[in-house]
Amino acid sequence: MNHLTSSPNWWACALSESVNDKKPLAVVCNGEALALFRNTAGEAFALEDRCPHRRVPLSLGTVKPGGLQCGYHGWTFDGGTGACTTIPNLRDTERVPPRYGARAYPVAEVNGFVHVGLGGSGLGRPTQGLPSAGYQPQGREFTGAATVNMAHGEYLAAMLDGPDCLLAFDGVRMTDFFLGDSRREGGSLVLDRGAVWKKQMLPSNFVVDYPLIVRTTLALAGGAVQVDLLDVDESPVVTVLMGVSPSRRGTTSLCWRGFWHAVRLAGAPLRWRSARALGKPPFEVFDDIKGAAIAALLVAPSRELEAARTGFTASAPLRTAA
Ligand code: FES
Repeated sequence: MNHLTSSPNWWACALSESVNDKKPLAVVCNGEALALFRNTAGEAFALEDRCPHRRVPLSLGTVKPGGLQCGYHGWTFDGGTGACTTIPNLRDTERVPPRYGARAYPVAEVNGFVHVGLGGSGLGRPTQGLPSAGYQPQGREFTGAATVNMAHGEYLAAMLDGPDCLLAFDGVRMTDFFLGDSRREGGSLVLDRGAVWKKQMLPSNFVVDYPLIVRTTLALAGGAVQVDLLDVDESPVVTVLMGVSPSRRGTTSLCWRGFWHAVRLAGAPLRWRSARALGKPPFEVFDDIKGAAIAALLVAPSRELEAARTGFTASAPLRTAA
């Protein structure tokens, strides 16, 4: 008999600051509807967003000392195990039947992301590293979340073929020129693309002179993508880490955080420098994606992506810019 199983993957489902001990947060990650919440000690939990009693979303309930209380009949579920701990109005002689439990998922939190272990055919916690383990913000961060009208696989492919359709760095134009082939680094696929300041014209066909690099680092397991803006010496200027996962009906859930690196950048336009001094966001993740631009993308570096992701067994976190 074949007993092959695959372990779940860690998915960055939410920003830490969006999960609290008052009101549960409803998210859809890897196609699973989840209710995220914390206890008063700050520990984060994830339960299936469906009450086992009458299937009401648990995210409509309230966080209580004993766990997450359903808003309909008041049953309460332990965050760590999913076990039903309280049913209102039980007689003294009655006990909560052990089969009344919500599904609980493993949760891990690091560097501002709440990760949930989802997918795979095995049980237990994911064995891979956390996607955000190498994300080390310096100073002020810029954060957000959205659900975009695009399928997950297509979103990841577009991150390689044309990231300028999905996000922008302030004052920067990404070019169509790849700086080498995509490469495997640990559990990720990495691709470099040339970029220029917007005020500059593209170089001629015979001159390769890109003052900037946009590096896309895409996890082959789970749904994390890191996009770095680097200077010509490959020193990071801006880093964005995104949790990217399948949502409902062919859409994709995003949550992200990013920051400026403390570097002095030669050749940057004055307008860019002043925007930085004023603390303006150095990047934008698009929540309204233009279908015509996506349709016009050539299928290039992403050609083998789906097969690579399907056959990959995760073992490492995202490699990050030094
Ligand atoms: S539906 Fe949740 S307690 Fe009844």
